[in-house]
Amino acid sequence: MSSKKLTRVSIILVLVMVLVLCYCVELEAQLQVGFYSSSCRIAEFIVKDEVRKGFFSDRGVAAGLVRLHFHDCFVRGCDASVLIDTTPSNTAEKDSPANNPSLRGFEVIDKAKARLEAACKGVVSCADIVAFAARDSVEITGGLGYDVPAGRRDGRVSLSSEASANLPPPFFNVNQLTQTFANKGLTQDEMATLSGAHTIGRSHCTSFSNRLYSYNTTTSQDPSIDKVYAGQLKQQCPQGSTNANLVVPMNPATPSITDVGYYVDVLANRGLLTSDQTLLTNSATANQVSQNAGNPLLWRSKFAAAMVKMGRIGVMTGTAGEIRANCRRSMVVLQVTSVGNGRPSSYVVRVDGLPDTTVGTGDAGVQRVAIVANCDKSTPELASST
Ligand code: HEM
Repeated sequence: MSSKKLTRVSIILVLVMVLVLCYCVELEAQLQVGFYSSSCRIAEFIVKDEVRKGFFSDRGVAAGLVRLHFHDCFVRGCDASVLIDTTPSNTAEKDSPANNPSLRGFEVIDKAKARLEAACKGVVSCADIVAFAARDSVEITGGLGYDVPAGRRDGRVSLSSEASANLPPPFFNVNQLTQTFANKGLTQDEMATLSGAHTIGRSHCTSFSNRLYSYNTTTSQDPSIDKVYAGQLKQQCPQGSTNANLVVPMNPATPSITDVGYYVDVLANRGLLTSDQTLLTNSATANQVSQNAGNPLLWRSKFAAAMVKMGRIGVMTGTAGEIRANCRRSMVVLQVTSVGNGRPSSYVVRVDGLPDTTVGTGDAGVQRVAIVANCDKSTPELASST
């Protein structure tokens, strides 16, 4: 066999061994409450502190952070893919119409990450920061606090198209919503429970104006919306307005408090989105709406449990993925060790959603290629060699 062929065979062998090893580690690794208790004791404290600061300068930040966790977990699992910035060669999740311009809270995550890197370099994942921040936001707005199992690793891939394909749009009906949540392993009951997050925050007029002005061919206004409420919304969101920044509160009575106001609204036909009001069109979800409206303690604990379950969707643990240094940028971790006179002398590393990177080895040839902490589905392939 020629030396070039030998080199290729050994590269493949190394890759297979690394993948098998990582698979075994992954089988063992699970999320744990107190995951950072020895590696970075102050991790959860720092996140809580940044959420608190963000909240007191803008109360809407809490709603933004709860939604950020939802939008992270429904696309490629809770892997902080929602935080990755768009590059010249890739439009990332955060720039899909489902997220831009509405998603907010990114600066809180950035600030927490900067402090965590200073305190415990390379230890706390961005995905865990998002999960902690969502919990802290629920808590600071008066919801029930809960323990967050942690140990998530960060993904390397973020594609706008996947956000559009996985996140439910505001015009979905109850069957479509049930299916979207079932696709992520969540029940219809959990869907109705988590929808209660719409008790805080705001919505852009564009997310529901079809209900006011262009419902269908026979009626311009959605007949299921309370007429007085529709009138108020029309004043706040004038027909044909070109201002894309117009927003209204989701639960006007208490927009910064995690209470059961959302369910009270829906019962009174004052649900803002089609996806909110549709919960009354199915007997099971309608029952949950009235049960939650009348039993705040029950809903608070069901909501906390459903948030924990949502936080487990598609997580990577162990040595899969990476711990990003900057939550906005993924790191390609291909390490080329060059020894002896073999060939090839450079590789193109190709990762979906990232520009190609050429890794050279100088004058010497490549004898051994080690993939470091790189065992998820986005493992860079050695796409070409020279
Ligand atoms: C059931 C399916 C859901 C649909 C169709 C949906 C859709 C939407 C839409 C269209 C907005 C307004 C965005 C804007 O125009 O500014 C919104 C806001 C929000 N959503 Fe959802 N959502 C759903 C479920 C959830 C879940 C499961 C959570 C969290 C557990 C959540 C948390 C939030 C929060 C907190 C806001 C306010 C965000 C802010 O003020 O920045 N949503 N949602």
